[in-house]
Formats: sequence, structure tokens, C-alpha cells
Amino acid sequence: MADGTKDATSSNQMWGGRFASGPDAIMEEINASIGFDKKLYAQDIRGSIAHATMLAEMAIISAQDKDMIVSGLNTIMSEIESGTFEFSRKLEDIHMNIEGRLATLIGPAAGRLHTARSRNDQVALDFRLWVKEALVKTEAMLTDLIGAFLDRAEEHAETVMPGFTHLQAAQPVTFGHHCMAYVEMFGRDRARVRHAIDHLDESPIGAAALAGTPYPIDRHMTAKALGFREPTRNSIDTVSDRDFALEFLSVAAICAMHLSRLAEEIVIWSTPQFGFVRLSDAFSTGSSIMPQKKNPDAAELVRAKTGRINGSLVALLTIMKGLPLAYSKDMQEDKEQVFDAAENLELAIAAMTGMMRDMTIRTDRMRAAAGAGFSTATDLADWLVREVGLPFREAHHVTGRAVALAEAKGCGLAELSLQELQAINPEITDKVFDVLSVDASVASRTSFGGTAPAEVRKQIAWWRGRN
Ligand code: ARG
Repeated sequence: MADGTKDATSSNQMWGGRFASGPDAIMEEINASIGFDKKLYAQDIRGSIAHATMLAEMAIISAQDKDMIVSGLNTIMSEIESGTFEFSRKLEDIHMNIEGRLATLIGPAAGRLHTARSRNDQVALDFRLWVKEALVKTEAMLTDLIGAFLDRAEEHAETVMPGFTHLQAAQPVTFGHHCMAYVEMFGRDRARVRHAIDHLDESPIGAAALAGTPYPIDRHMTAKALGFREPTRNSIDTVSDRDFALEFLSVAAICAMHLSRLAEEIVIWSTPQFGFVRLSDAFSTGSSIMPQKKNPDAAELVRAKTGRINGSLVALLTIMKGLPLAYSKDMQEDKEQVFDAAENLELAIAAMTGMMRDMTIRTDRMRAAAGAGFSTATDLADWLVREVGLPFREAHHVTGRAVALAEAKGCGLAELSLQELQAINPEITDKVFDVLSVDASVASRTSFGGTAPAEVRKQIAWWRGRN
């Protein structure tokens, strides 16, 4: 104020002690995080209850004050959940909104809650709790997605389809085997999720602003109460670390990349030209102008979510890059990236799980395509090595001539006559026709991890035991 006295109504009620006036409107707007960090209300209240309980146990605050604090916080929890809580931008963030309301509800005892902590360890705690829950949910959703693939793999352990390299038919495989490739990918994602949970499982509360606190707190007690394995070991690192958020985003980005590859395959497979799958009505859309169309919009959107999730990872890496220790307000920009990535990753996994369970596999179309493009050429070469004793290079050459002949005649390898084959190499016998069919080709690939139905079934059983 003009006379230099403090204007208590406009400076911040939590930290405004040394401030003569309130913030400029733009300052308030750039500073406030309540618009997005209100999502952390439940974690903030849980953390505060654990902290207040520990303070009372250690005789840092009285049991009566603790009881008032806990009951006030429970009231606030129901106010927020029932939608009656009034969030204020003047109070910046979720931490001060809750503490401000607590003061209104219980009076001066509310001021004791912030003993031996700071918003720096408080936000680190809230956010870690939130990310941990998001990871636990992602783990369960991946288990569900893997389950959908295992079911489809079991159902289609014998369904032949072309296996591709360069998106060109390479060798026949089974659809079950292809499904199991995704089980491996999402299984690795789930293992990364579990590692991330393990890494973040340390409690930040009690690191205070950055240096720890002179109060005789028990950080092991709060860690245990909040379900963490142990407290963090360095107070400076604790308030400056956002690795847990970056690990979440990295895991999410890799998983989204996997989902985008599946999405792309579904887009390709569902075209009339491929016709390998038919999407259910529940997971496709029509065109407003072309009545014949059935579009794989959900798959396309999943493919696009990858860009968004990668963006969040790059954004947070860039926000954190070059920040001096310990806390800087830059770090407030961490939350929206993680919230957005989590929401979209969940949506993408759920959409893919639904699509995989629902879509019709067109085994006839897959079989027809599996035999096209001389896909058993390698089988012919392998047969020449095994049965005729040719070196692989020469067998490759002989097979190339057979392919050229079939191509010139416009037929498949299995449709060449024995005489035609013997003209290329006289030692070929009619036994060769046993390996030229796609079923024989697939059944012969019994190496560990190969596409033979018996081998795929073994891999399904292995995963069933781990899902
Ligand atoms: N809203 C802040 C954030 O999300 C809370 C921590 C504020 N700490 C501080 N020293 N200003 O990062």
C-alpha cells in the first residue's frame, strides 16, 4: 500500500509475509498451477494425513491438533469429491488451496501441518504417488492387452498368413505367431513399467525445501504409511528429481510406438486390398459421403497418439535439461505432460484391446496371400541343401531359376511340374512338393521361437504362466 503497510487481503495468504502487495494479474496467471494440479488432490490429502500423523507420533504437534487436521482434511476430500470445493487461483496450487481451506475449517491448528515440510517435498510426494498409480494401472491394462493377444494366438495357431519383410511377402508364418510377436513387445513394456514402479518406490516427504529439517521427524514412518519401500536418501536430489516422471514418459513412448505399429498393421490389414481382418462395427466408422466405406479410425488415432506422447517426453526432458539443483519453478511444467500422456496411453491401450478382441480374422484371405509371391522359395532352397546336398549358395541359385520360370509361366512354385524342376536340377524328386505348400513350410520351422504351430503353442503356454 502507498503508506508501506501490508495489504493482507491481496498478498498471498500462505507466503505473503514479506510482500507489500499482491501479484500482477499476469504474474498470477503464469504462476498458478491449480488449473491442472487439482488432479493431485487425493495424493495431497493422503500425504498430509501421513505427515500430520507422524508429527504427532514424534510429539512435534499435539494429538488434538493432529485430530483436527485429519478430520479437516477428510472434510476437504469429500468437498472436492462432491464438487462443492471452491478452487482459487490466488492460492496458486492444490497444496495451498487445501491448506487454505483447512485454515478456514479448523483455524490456527491448520498452520501446524506445514511443520517440517515444504511444498518442494510435498509436490514431489504427490506427483510420485500419482505416477505410481498410473503405472500400476498401465501394468494391469497391458496384462489385459497381452491376454487378448494370447487368446487370438491360441485360436489361430494354425492360421497361415504371409510373413513380411519390407512389407513384401517373405515367408509364410501363422497369425498366432504374429500375435505372439506383440505379446513379446507388450510383455517388455510391462517389464519396463514394473522397473519404473520399483525405481520410484521411495518417499520424498521430509526432504523439506532441499536440506532436510531440524525437527525429529521419522521419514521411515511416513514412507511406510504411504506404501513406499523406503525414504529417498538425499534431500537435494529428492526435490530436484523428476526421473520418475521421465521414466513414465519413456515407458509410455516406447509402448505407444509399439501400439502405433500394431495400429498401422490393422490399417493395412483392413483395407479391401489386403482384407486380412474385418473390424467390428464397434471399432470402425463410416464415411459421410462414401457409403461403402468402413474406416479404421480408432487404429489411426492410436497411431497418432504416439506423436503426442513422444512430444510429452521430449517436452519434459527439455524442461529438466540444464536445471541447477535443487527445485526451480520450471518443474511445475512437469505435470501436464504426464497427465496428458497417461490419459492418452490408457485410451490407446484400451482401444487396441477392444479391437484385437473384436476383429474378424479372414483366414481364407490370409491363406491365399500366404502362398503368393513365391513365399516358399526358401523352403525349396533348404530342401535342396538337405536332400540333394547342394551348398546353400548354389541351392539359392537353383531356386532363383525355378522362381523365374514360375514367374514367366504366371504360376506358383508348387504348380511347376517335376519335369520343369528337373530341367533346372536333375536331382530334384517329387518329394520336393512336400515342402512347397505353405502348411508344410510353416510346420517345418520348429526351431525355438519359430513359427511352427507346435512351437507357437509352447510360447503361448509359457506366457499364460506369466500373465
Ligand atoms: N506448484 C508447485 C509445483 O508444482 C509446487 C511447488 C512450489 N515450490 C516452490 N518453491 N515455489 O512445482
